[in-house]
Amino acid sequence: MPGLAIVGAQWGDEGKGKVTDLLAERADAIVRFQGGNNAGHTIVRDGEEFKFHLIPSGILYSEKTCVIGNGVVVDPRILLSEIDGLKRRGVDVGNLRISANAHLIMPYHVLLDTAGELKLGKLSLGTTRRGIGPCYADKALRLGIRVQDLLDEKILRAKIRTALASKQQALRELSVQRRKLRKEAGEGDREAAGQAIGDAPDPRIDLHAMTEEHISYGHRLEPHIADTAKLCWEKLDAGKTVIFEGAQATLLDLDHGTYPFVTSSNPIAGAATVGAGVGPNDIDEVWGVAKAYATRVGAGPFPTELEDGAGRHMLERGHEYGTTTGRERRCGWMDLVALRYAVRINGMTSLAITKLDVLGGLETLRVAVRYRSREGALLDSFPYHQSILHGAVPEYEELPGFDADISGCRKLADLPSEARAYLEYIEEGAGVPIGLVGVGPGREQVITD
Ligand code: IMP
Repeated sequence: MPGLAIVGAQWGDEGKGKVTDLLAERADAIVRFQGGNNAGHTIVRDGEEFKFHLIPSGILYSEKTCVIGNGVVVDPRILLSEIDGLKRRGVDVGNLRISANAHLIMPYHVLLDTAGELKLGKLSLGTTRRGIGPCYADKALRLGIRVQDLLDEKILRAKIRTALASKQQALRELSVQRRKLRKEAGEGDREAAGQAIGDAPDPRIDLHAMTEEHISYGHRLEPHIADTAKLCWEKLDAGKTVIFEGAQATLLDLDHGTYPFVTSSNPIAGAATVGAGVGPNDIDEVWGVAKAYATRVGAGPFPTELEDGAGRHMLERGHEYGTTTGRERRCGWMDLVALRYAVRINGMTSLAITKLDVLGGLETLRVAVRYRSREGALLDSFPYHQSILHGAVPEYEELPGFDADISGCRKLADLPSEARAYLEYIEEGAGVPIGLVGVGPGREQVITD
């Protein structure tokens, strides 16, 4: 199985990092193919917690090659701080490779992300404000700055100047917003003013200083910059196993997710080919990762969302707070309509179900099996029309819950019969075998047989 893609089957934060970390044992290279530092992976190794936003989850194996593919958008400041953080903790990053063709998130992309959200006001998408959307937009407009541009001062300066020209108006509007927020917060109230201004960072940009700063990033990143598509091909050609690690998830996919409440890239398995530079035949297995329940951060439809005690239970027991932004995640029941959709869109061959332990203590478990539309129609498949999805009410099947602490279980047979029945129900409903079950945050807290 030389090529294996790991993708999110819900709205993100399913625990892909942990699954990647485990499956990486069998791999020679781990490649991220889309997204940027809007992602957040937490891996617990020997009781030590590691959080990554950009660096592939395989970095803790010093002998494996970790690749940031061409489809990723890279904030060089964040990447360097992750590299420095790992080095300080004694982790060798010598095998990290960054595609020369990956696009850079520039400081103005971060500002424009904030400006866009402020402008939308109540209609905002709840982005991570990391500059993801504006960076991918510049890529499509052919105004992007790529990693390779960091190595040539003249080209870098010219490209930044061109890219900035079309953004002046939006940046000026942000200046006005900033003044307005400061005024509203009142000059006397320094704390409130600070908070308001934090929402609208200073949009002044010094072209010279930005170029200099990025040239220095280039010097530091140079040893890692490579033709990563060729590198992937060489590994696959030699029969080595390569993992393509997705960030975000199917329902946040720009084309197949709940648009416009999505991210600006394609987190589905098919995108691994474009974002890493390999062919469709190079992907032999597709693992989808889903929580035993569901969560979502940011705005947008979420049919099985809970606002009751069960939702609170998931939030608290599951520590459902964003790794990247610290935001409280919205929680809800497992949604088989959405999961079946993710299975189909990704051509999934296996499922990993994470955080089963979090459901311990709930008397009854509910699983959405179909939706009912506003007009009363029964919907077995995920609706493509946003108005139908917004009005869809899930219909549930109820299963008995389990009370025991399952975090010490290492075999299916160790699980209470109710937990096993719950997994079997999901497996049958999704139509894909479950290959791995997570019962706690530690990498050893998994069941594989
Ligand atoms: P952006 O990717 O920052 O543009 O945000 C767009 C939407 O995707 C927002 O609803 C974010 O909350 C969501 N999002 C982006 N990255 C992640 C992630 O890693 N996990 C969960 N949600 C995410």
